[in-house]
Amino acid sequence: MVRAAELLLLLLGLSGSLRAQLPPPPTVIINLDEDPELRWLPLKKVFDANYLNKAAAEIIESTVPKWVHHAAIPVVESLEKYVPQPYAGEIRGLATVLGGNLSDAIILNFAYEFTAFCTSILAQDKNGNVYHGRNLDYPHAVLRNLTLNLVFQKNGKAAYFGTSFAGYVGLWTGMSPNKFTVSGDKRGTEHWWNWWKNVVSAFLFHRSPVSWLVRETLEEAENFQEAVMRLSKTPLITGVYYIVGGVRAGEGVVITRDRKGPADIWPLDPLNGGWYRVETNYDHWLPPPAKDHRRETANKALNAIGQDHINMNKLYQVLSLYPVCDGITVHTTVMSAASPGNYTTFIRPKGCSQTD
Ligand SMILES: *[C@@H]1O[C@H](CO)[C@@H](O)[C@H](O)[C@H]1NC(C)=O
Ligand SMILES: *[C@@H]1O[C@H](CO)[C@@H](O)[C@H](O)[C@H]1NC(C)=O
Ligand SMILES: *[C@@H]1O[C@H](CO)[C@@H](O)[C@H](O)[C@H]1NC(C)=O
Repeated sequence: MVRAAELLLLLLGLSGSLRAQLPPPPTVIINLDEDPELRWLPLKKVFDANYLNKAAAEIIESTVPKWVHHAAIPVVESLEKYVPQPYAGEIRGLATVLGGNLSDAIILNFAYEFTAFCTSILAQDKNGNVYHGRNLDYPHAVLRNLTLNLVFQKNGKAAYFGTSFAGYVGLWTGMSPNKFTVSGDKRGTEHWWNWWKNVVSAFLFHRSPVSWLVRETLEEAENFQEAVMRLSKTPLITGVYYIVGGVRAGEGVVITRDRKGPADIWPLDPLNGGWYRVETNYDHWLPPPAKDHRRETANKALNAIGQDHINMNKLYQVLSLYPVCDGITVHTTVMSAASPGNYTTFIRPKGCSQTD
């Protein structure tokens, strides 16, 4: 375990790491020893409640069709008793932070589940250090203002870390210090009607939302191997790509998930030239759509850098290239489980454009 104070300083950017000129996101400590309904109250110290409330309404309005929203409210209200702990309590607590509307807090938590686009990269240098970076792309500018780093504490110590949005209980990016790092990238294009069916079946059939499984894995898995097992096998609401980095050479894998289990496991293979893996939002064994050049651009840049020169800073540079980073990129996180203090998130105030 890493001492919270030490990490706080690092997360707050006071240790002066990669690119100090960009404002770092705020850091909020979530105390897991507290009752789930009270854990998220510290958000109020960092975010203006009115702003959160307005932002949540805006995200729901632009993500969820109005008729679904209206049709959903009674269903969501009855669904509440099926939402497992601690999420039910946490979402109830968040509803008070957001202004008291429980059904909207639940819908908001599922709206995020639905539209995220992303790029994740794993890379191993010549000394066997494993680096992990991710861009989170999402078509809502307001999310830049909601981005935050989270320190989940247990017994007064930092148990795991994550980067997320205020109002959301799941994680798409996180690190269990000195154990593993994980990110999730959206897979496939679900339509609302399928998605909604999935949300309902999730609770009835005990399938996990993809971002909740990330959090549970960070909380419970003892090491890289166990994390990969859990992320591969636990039934999910929907397909996803999980990207997992460990602490030792060769510990890195892209898991392509179907709802029921793994569709494919794609590990680092440094002895045979596979010193990095780039995952966007398409199965790695298939060509991406002709108009999407993220994978190709990242591959080219990594080849140009070479295994001799890769490090966290270089990885950040790759994640800053257009169109790997584009107009809807909200934030970038770079991390390495073996150096937990180097976990860094950069907000992209304007995303990236071709001329950057
Ligand atoms: C929650 O807010 C929505 C509008 O965003 C409204 O339609 C709904 O009735 C509210 N629900 C409750 C329980 O107040
Ligand atoms: C984000 O916050 C800044 C400063 O508080 C504000 O000027 C800007 O309008 C906000 N952006 C959005 C999209 O809400
Ligand atoms: C972590 O950051 C320190 C200080 O900037 C740097 O010296 C070290 O090389 C970094 N470690 C990794 C694995 O990037």
